[in-house]
Amino acid sequence: MKARTPLSAPGRGNASAPSHADSEASPIVTFTRMDQGTAEDYALLDELAKPYIVKTGKRVLAYLENIADGFPGYPIDRCQHSLQTATRALRAGECEEYVVAALLHDIGDDLSPENHAELGASVLRPYVARHTHWMVQQHGLFQGYYYFDKIGLDANARLRHRSHPAFDMTVDFCDAYDQKSFDPDYDTLPIDHFVPMVERIFARKPWGEHTTRDWPVRD
Ligand SMILES: [Fe+2]
Ligand SMILES: [Fe+2]
Repeated sequence: MKARTPLSAPGRGNASAPSHADSEASPIVTFTRMDQGTAEDYALLDELAKPYIVKTGKRVLAYLENIADGFPGYPIDRCQHSLQTATRALRAGECEEYVVAALLHDIGDDLSPENHAELGASVLRPYVARHTHWMVQQHGLFQGYYYFDKIGLDANARLRHRSHPAFDMTVDFCDAYDQKSFDPDYDTLPIDHFVPMVERIFARKPWGEHTTRDWPVRD
């Protein structure tokens, strides 16, 4: 593990601490309990977090490949399904935020297969409008319209949300893009096509103006 240098470590740079380690190590806070941290500590953490947060989009894109191994038995894997869902949304003229949401809607399949929709929605929430988040969060239930009756569940369970403003948006997402994107013969766009879109959405200010809106807008 890389050596770390305390922010205000006594003796920093003395004979017991090699100078090369000092030049390479990133600073760390002085505390081992958060309640003992200083304002200087938290200012440092905030500064160090900035380049990490900026790279969130890249990490999300890299993670998307993990879902390829999940849920066997479908004609295409979940990564290809995600790309196909996003491709259909893009070709239908949906805005960039929507297309990125379509691309990432199943990204929770790997870590949280039993409630994957909530995980994917949470990944998106600091960067998207309220109803984009809600659409991804609810898509699992709404997708059930197409098969819940075949596994002993209520295919119309989504109707309990019929008064929600994003009800129709979520119905349309499942109908036009998600439920039909298991086709190995569809001309699905490669991940490279979506990389700039994901990077632009995740370059937005977290919890910024976009997240205060109900509906996604074209930038
Ligand atoms: Fe899903
Ligand atoms: Fe899906």
